[in-house]
Amino acid sequence: MPDKVLVTRKLPGSALDRLAALVEIDVWTGRFAPPRAELLARAADCRGLLSMITDRVDGELLAAAPELRVVSNYAVGYDNIDVEACAARGVVVGNTPGVLTESTADQTWALILAASRRVPEAAAAVKAGEWRAWEPDFLLGRDVHGATLGVVGFGAVGRAVARRAEGFGMRVLYHDPVVGGLALEDLLRQSDVVTLHCPLTDETHRLIGERELALMKPTAVLVNAARGPIVDQKALTRALQERQIFAAGLDVTEVEPIASDDPLLSLPNCVVLPHLGSATYATRGAMAEMAVDNLLAGLAGEPLPNAVHGRS
Ligand code: DGY
Repeated sequence: MPDKVLVTRKLPGSALDRLAALVEIDVWTGRFAPPRAELLARAADCRGLLSMITDRVDGELLAAAPELRVVSNYAVGYDNIDVEACAARGVVVGNTPGVLTESTADQTWALILAASRRVPEAAAAVKAGEWRAWEPDFLLGRDVHGATLGVVGFGAVGRAVARRAEGFGMRVLYHDPVVGGLALEDLLRQSDVVTLHCPLTDETHRLIGERELALMKPTAVLVNAARGPIVDQKALTRALQERQIFAAGLDVTEVEPIASDDPLLSLPNCVVLPHLGSATYATRGAMAEMAVDNLLAGLAGEPLPNAVHGRS
């Protein structure tokens, strides 16, 4: 009997065809994540799970899936997975680092520019018929060139964002508990753009709250393309409402999707995107290939090409 694998969403590219030729696969074809009960029921007799960041892989799921040997997450982040619980059950876990670095850095720059130069607000103004003439002070924004960029989390994505800053003639500061750099407080005080690229852990949960936002310049822009809970969203909403900082660009929110009546969405100085950092055809296809490679290695009892061993 071939191994059975649950894939919790259809994936771009042809990687799933390669998987289907080798194992029996059950693909959840819904547009959104399988409901919890469905996930637990379908995983029950599977040896492999190809999960998304929207699937919680925890003790309950592991108990419901006694055959499980490998979990391959279709993401670089894996805060949706209890890695310790998997290790305790002998389940190996893989992720997709590297292939999404550059696309996520590109998207971060889209947010930096959109928030600093008020791009969505300006486009909306044109559609609303508010472009009546050229005006000296219509929709003024903040210069990005020559400004100071503060990168919080100087891993692969943080560095790729910093590399792009060279082209804008920016001074780059960084803060990273492993790599070092500036103290967070100093980075927040000095930066014109603060961009977050750390993983979500107990230490980074609400790393940016009321106190940290108060340290930022009133002209500064905050960008988060990492994980929503790194920012205290209520504190950010207040800071934007009171113009304590200039603007924010978010690819992620505390709860995803953000509620359509969330006050953040009515603020002109906040750009919110639906978690699209890695969302290009090429990158999502490459992530699928990598996730399948991890899965097949795990099923064969071989070391995963990209295994995770600790917290994200
Ligand atoms: C990741 O990989 O962690 C992104 O957030 C989703 O692509």
